[in-house]
Amino acid sequence: MEQIPREFIQQLLERVEIVDLIDARVPLRKKSGNNYFACCPFHNEKSASFSVSQNKQFYHCFGCGAHGNAIDFLMNHEHLTFPETIESLAKLTGMEIPREKKSAHKSISHQSLYDLLTQITQFYQTQLRQSPIAIQYLKKRGISGEIAKEFCLGYAPPGWDNIRQTFGNATTLQPLLDCGMLIKKEEGGYYDRFRERIMFPIHDKRGRIIGFGGRILETGEPKYLNSPETPVFQKGHELYGLYYALRANRQLTRVIIVEGYMDVIALFQQGITYAVATMGTATTANHLQRLFRHTSEIIFCFDGDQAGRTAGWRALQQVFPLMRDGIQVRFLFLPDGEDPDSLIRKESKEQFEQRIQQAVSLSHFFFQALANQTDLTHMDGRARYVKLANDFIHQLPDSFFKKMMQEELSKKAGIHLDSLQPRAHTKTLNPVLTKAKPPSPLRLAMMLLVQYPELAQCYHEPLPQLELKGFDLFCELFNLAKQHRLTTGSILEHWRGREEEKLIVKLAQLEHMIPQGGVENEFLGALKQLNKLAQTLIIERLLAKASQQELSSEEKSHLNQLISTKIV
Ligand code: UTP
Ligand code: MN
Repeated sequence: MEQIPREFIQQLLERVEIVDLIDARVPLRKKSGNNYFACCPFHNEKSASFSVSQNKQFYHCFGCGAHGNAIDFLMNHEHLTFPETIESLAKLTGMEIPREKKSAHKSISHQSLYDLLTQITQFYQTQLRQSPIAIQYLKKRGISGEIAKEFCLGYAPPGWDNIRQTFGNATTLQPLLDCGMLIKKEEGGYYDRFRERIMFPIHDKRGRIIGFGGRILETGEPKYLNSPETPVFQKGHELYGLYYALRANRQLTRVIIVEGYMDVIALFQQGITYAVATMGTATTANHLQRLFRHTSEIIFCFDGDQAGRTAGWRALQQVFPLMRDGIQVRFLFLPDGEDPDSLIRKESKEQFEQRIQQAVSLSHFFFQALANQTDLTHMDGRARYVKLANDFIHQLPDSFFKKMMQEELSKKAGIHLDSLQPRAHTKTLNPVLTKAKPPSPLRLAMMLLVQYPELAQCYHEPLPQLELKGFDLFCELFNLAKQHRLTTGSILEHWRGREEEKLIVKLAQLEHMIPQGGVENEFLGALKQLNKLAQTLIIERLLAKASQQELSSEEKSHLNQLISTKIV
């Protein structure tokens, strides 16, 4: 059998996002921190005990104990063999398995598009610095130098072939077309898509540049020109500003969806760092699903006019089927003629946040919008209202929210609705709690390292020398984590099939009550204990020896030194 190099498997795991992989098969719900939950696909259950950690790239079911990394998930869920799983993941990520030379160019070409777009962004930034009118324009719009820099704003200078001249050569011409920066002329030749525009680079949520929006300096059509759909830019998926929001907020408690690039940036500049915008398209269910992986509350922001209300209703239709317990959706309608950009420059951050506070709930907007569409003073109007509302509510996933909406409807319409059977009492998550006995420092250090491999970077001393069961394993793990960027998932992969695999898996799944902020201290504390133990053991050994025979002068000074520097 051909061996797939371990190194490749690790690279593959780096590329795969376990949350996306699982979510595509078992819809996940954001619960806490970077953890997602669902009902476990590996056993029958009513409440969600299946948890997926984005940080750890690891899943675990509190109910049946199923666990593993992305590879394990696919293997178990799709009943594939290990090599089949690797092939399937390689295909998914566009990577080539080293033993055969086929689909390599796809991932390479993606990478070359990212690289090109990054270089072009730098080019536009340089152009901006050299263009007084572009700088003047941004100043006029109240954008600070720092914010322009942070969002990598640039300027596409006048001229039809700046990009082609600067970046085009035999190997880049096709990629430049592929990423939408050049357009082919019918009569032959190429020209630049973006000219004389302020350029807003669009980042995917991991921070890679995938496209641009370009705004005309003064008036003209179109006001905004966006990159077309390309292999790396899908408008129905991407949200402008999400990368910045994720970066600026350790925990995204809420996200506000606004309409434009400038809205996102102006809000960010005033300290509202959780706004995102779609790019020239309406919000799709896919956008919302993606957002709900990072936050549990979405606030749609619209103009107060009729167009805004209509857009609001459209958004509501998208979000309705996604409404599960634990998520919140609200609607904010701004005063007529204002957008977040214009408003935040008149009002303070506090005033704007006040508006966010007062945004109406989904149910409020829903019933109000329906009432506006029907005449409730007449019987048939009321019947229509109930029918419409009921059809909508029917789309909601089974949840307490659905039940509340039904009750609300029956109250509003004065009609007794045969509501659903009350749901069976839902169990709360029952994590496997840590045993009462505190773990040994070695076990603690090992568990933390398996769960937070980045901890290896905060310990700079040499590791102590200890003859303890499991200490060699710890050293191996530590050195590995020191040299490579690992996740829990990739650590499991490293130990797959080895004797110690079981132990590593167990450590990966241990629930501890250490808050995120305290993890580093606990780890360093455990190492200190281990160092102390190592010292004590050597001292004891030397003292025992000294009671039998005279120590060599070397041993004596070692002993003295150990005793005088003993860690207390
Ligand atoms: P708006 O026309 O509401 O403009 O477009 P805006 O965001 O307030 O822009 P400024 O303040 O005049 O600069 C909202 C969003 O719709 C998309 C863009 O994403 C824009 O940010 N749009 C608009 C286009 O894609 N093309 C257009 O021609 C206009
Ligand atoms: Mn505007």
